[in-house]
Amino acid sequence: MQQVDNPNHQNVIELKGIGQSYDGGQNWIIKDLNLIIEDKPNQGQFVVILGMSGAGKSTLLRYISGLQKPTEGQVFVNGKELDKDTRVSMVFQQYSSLPWKTVLENVALSLEFKGIGRKEREEKAMEMIKLVGLEGHQHKYAIYPTLSGGQLQRVAIARSLLANPEILLMDEPFGALDIKTRLQMQDLLTKLWDQFQSTIIFVTHDISEAVYLADDIYIMKAPPSKFVEHINIDLPLKRSREMKRDQRYTELVHFVEDTMMNVASTHGGSF
Ligand SMILES: Nc1ncnc2c1ncn2[C@@H]1O[C@H](COP(=O)(O)OP(=O)(O)O)[C@@H](O)[C@H]1O
Ligand SMILES: [Mg+2]
Repeated sequence: MQQVDNPNHQNVIELKGIGQSYDGGQNWIIKDLNLIIEDKPNQGQFVVILGMSGAGKSTLLRYISGLQKPTEGQVFVNGKELDKDTRVSMVFQQYSSLPWKTVLENVALSLEFKGIGRKEREEKAMEMIKLVGLEGHQHKYAIYPTLSGGQLQRVAIARSLLANPEILLMDEPFGALDIKTRLQMQDLLTKLWDQFQSTIIFVTHDISEAVYLADDIYIMKAPPSKFVEHINIDLPLKRSREMKRDQRYTELVHFVEDTMMNVASTHGGSF
């Protein structure tokens, strides 16, 4: 897979020569991994990572969020190497809100860390709460079953957007939701993505979800892992449920599935 480093563009994210070992270099979970996500001005972009389980997908998101440093290589966000002051928040499959805080307090968390006063942070948090469809629930505790699984993920999305609307990292965020909620959350995400023009990096196991949401799909092979396939999803930028009836959508789902099977049979591993 070839990637062109265009010096006129500032990349949103660049992973360069990444290697990950937990035993002093005897075994490599990730090796020689490179990824460039270029900035696309005035337009959101949706990058989906598919790959074998244990390939290191969650690990990559932890690098970009600043939670972990790779054994080898460099991680750049907006052209700058990550340090402890540049953090990108993440939406996980597991509910990651603080259960002893309300929805409002959870969404406003990043502003609280920044020392912004209560009135301002609650106003800003309320805007996000409305956008993700949680108005009326702001004073409830962010705990299941006071809030449903879908509502808790809305809290996490609102919190991440308020912390940093430019980049959203999502690690199998809808994996624990029922089908109907999952489809609703997909549509919420496409709406927010359009509105904020965010760069979203999204890990999923669900190929139809990947094709529905992505502009670009990158596929990781089994360890020592790196990206071995890049598939551009040439569907219209604005996605809608009807699009799933299009022949091109179905073709792409089959193509991605075949590509995944090929990666598994060439390099080993399972999804
Ligand atoms: N602290 C650690 N020590 C040893 N191995 C680890 C550690 N953290 C993660 N791993 C291993 O790294 C591999 C990649 O993990 P992960 O990024 O969670 O994969 P994925 O999200 O693609 O399923 C897994 O095999 C996991 O067991
Ligand atoms: Mg994972």
